[in-house]
Amino acid sequence: MGYIDAGDSRRAPASASPVYLDHAATTPILPEALDVMTEELAQVGNPSSLHNAGRRARRVVEESREQIAAAYGARPSEVVFTSGGTEADNLAVKGLFGARRAADPGRRRVLAAATEHHAVLDSVGWLHDHEGAEVSWLALDDFGRVGPAALCEAIERNAEAVALVSVMWANNEVGTVQPVAELADVAREHRIPFHSDAVQAAGQLPVSLADTGAAALTITAHKIGGPVGIGALLLARGTDLVPVLHGGGQERDVRSGTLDAPAIRAFAVAAEIATARRNDEAKRLGALRDDLIAQVLAAVPDAVLNGAPPGPGRLPGNAHFSFPGCEGDALLMLLDAKGIACSTGSACTAGVAQPSHVLLAMGADEARARGSLRFSLGHSSTQADVDALGAVIGEAVERARRAGAR
Ligand SMILES: Cc1ncc(COP(=O)(O)O)c(C=O)c1O
Repeated sequence: MGYIDAGDSRRAPASASPVYLDHAATTPILPEALDVMTEELAQVGNPSSLHNAGRRARRVVEESREQIAAAYGARPSEVVFTSGGTEADNLAVKGLFGARRAADPGRRRVLAAATEHHAVLDSVGWLHDHEGAEVSWLALDDFGRVGPAALCEAIERNAEAVALVSVMWANNEVGTVQPVAELADVAREHRIPFHSDAVQAAGQLPVSLADTGAAALTITAHKIGGPVGIGALLLARGTDLVPVLHGGGQERDVRSGTLDAPAIRAFAVAAEIATARRNDEAKRLGALRDDLIAQVLAAVPDAVLNGAPPGPGRLPGNAHFSFPGCEGDALLMLLDAKGIACSTGSACTAGVAQPSHVLLAMGADEARARGSLRFSLGHSSTQADVDALGAVIGEAVERARRAGAR
């Protein structure tokens, strides 16, 4: 569609903060995606309508589907649009479980990593509470990785009862990359559908449904430069899935709901651009990230980098630290006051900060899991962003420690 070479493709995206180090939460929409979305929002037509306006909207959706499929090693018919990553994870986990159990009521086991995003974790929890699922949390190494041998061992405790396996491609907090292809192989050898939440990986690593051999992959637009509120489940041909949403039967009865043609078009443009730039961006972000780690450790020598060391086992844009003696949310607010946006990565329930379930699952104690911050880089990140953090992190940590000691 010619967006990749567009002359204005590096136009500065809008950013809520002068120094935005929270791309893993959401990354600015690419100018090219914003342009096509704005253009499309001015059009009328439901992609399911039979008249001319509807057929035009349908063409937009189907061309976009082809682009997204090409970006992620899928066939167009394997792209199921959803409202984002959360819905795609719910659909995969609940839908695969429902289909497997309908075919064989003995299949009630769900295997997943305890470091999953809450969209997977809580879907698994719901299946346990409401559908009688038996949950096995997979063993992790110190970096939060699930080894193929650990998966095999967990499956073989009762292989005939396993409904599905879900292990995320890359962790949203600590950036650990899982050996997804090997895990999918183990699941396939046991004829068990394998789902992976590839939300964080999709913009930074080569994510391919065909190459992985997974049954289902979750992706979402707003982590790759598209808009919030649109995503997809890539569902391998021949994989049975019970729908979660019922209604008009769109998306081949797998996911009902009027298709959002403007967001889908913007998603496709973002997917195409992110894929074309991926290798160069991974190198650029990896170098920036390494410098960020060096600057933080120089300013705070007792900070601890969580997750895998920089390299293929870690997302290029991720740096995640524990700062001993600090509360992560206090440090976050101090940095915010200096114009630096980052994240604790952990959930906040009714205003009360919770320790990171990811770090706890990786064996950290509660203090370490509370005193952690994630800095995540993306397409608009620059050396100046990293230097700005390096200039203030030392003093901010000291202040957070003094506040904690009071
Ligand atoms: C790993 C992972 N999965 C799922 C989601 C949810 O995606 P969405 O915000 O599109 O619902 C996120 C977003 O934070 C994520 O990081």
